[in-house]
Amino acid sequence: MTRLPTSVGVLKVFFLPKLRNDNKVSFGYSVLKGKRAGMEDFFYADFKDIQGKAGTVGLFGIFDGHGGPHAADFVRENLFDSLLSNAQFPSDVSLALGEAFVETDKRYLQAETGANRDDGCTAVTAVLLDHTVVVAHVGDSRAVLSRGGKAIALSEDHKPNRSDERSRIEAAGGVVVWAGTWRVGGVLAVSRAFGDRLLKRYVVATPDVREEKLTSQDETLILASDGLWDVLSNDEAVNLIKDIPDAEKAAKKLTDEAYGRGSNDNISCIVLRFRF
Ligand SMILES: *[C@@H]1O[C@H](CO)[C@@H](O)[C@H](O)[C@H]1NC(C)=O
Ligand SMILES: *[C@@H]1O[C@H](CO)[C@@H](O)[C@H](O)[C@H]1NC(C)=O
Repeated sequence: MTRLPTSVGVLKVFFLPKLRNDNKVSFGYSVLKGKRAGMEDFFYADFKDIQGKAGTVGLFGIFDGHGGPHAADFVRENLFDSLLSNAQFPSDVSLALGEAFVETDKRYLQAETGANRDDGCTAVTAVLLDHTVVVAHVGDSRAVLSRGGKAIALSEDHKPNRSDERSRIEAAGGVVVWAGTWRVGGVLAVSRAFGDRLLKRYVVATPDVREEKLTSQDETLILASDGLWDVLSNDEAVNLIKDIPDAEKAAKKLTDEAYGRGSNDNISCIVLRFRF
């Protein structure tokens, strides 16, 4: 995968060539770094042939870091390896993916023991096998499917003021406090994430996992960081790209639009286009 170069004070668009088009699924990605961006926004997008196991599997993820680049970097490097080596893969992809999130978080925190850091990252991932997509997420990076022109959210953001999330945090002894927005311990604006060692009792890396059978009605799947969803609704995003057959151009359209609407966050986006 290509690393994003560090460029302070300059807005850059990374608009890389398609890695693969197997005639059924194509994908493209676009990453826009905010003015103060370091290297905290990462993504993964690839098809892998799993010998003797599942045939071709599509692996896609957005990893949006906070507090430093290390968590996003580690998760991007390790999460899908953990998935592919899980004993439940590919017979139970949902279970394997859930376990891979938790295991990768543990391994990250172990690897960073002694390092005086508190990096974290959110993630939304999509695993594609045959005509099934399995989506898992922690935090506020989101997956949205376009089915027959309608937007269907395949993930529900883990915000600290979601009533179930607030209950879970409070049951663990934590607090959700208003500080510009709702924050765990007055600090973090998401309620689940990788890393975030100091808040780990409350900010877990257990994902929500959702399995969806894809149909001939399904057109696109958008995975994007909160920098996109802060300024675009799910419906707007789906509508913006409905007439753009090229997945790369669609991804770029979304990040350009989010930037144009004044998102001052870092924006990462992957678009998958289905032709079933
Ligand atoms: C959480 O707070 C935000 C404002 O930060 C608000 O827009 C949203 O509706 C709230 N969500 C819930 C579930 O209360
Ligand atoms: C964008 O990312 C940089 C570092 O990667 C971070 O310092 C900055 O806070 C992010 N921008 C916003 C608005 O979150």
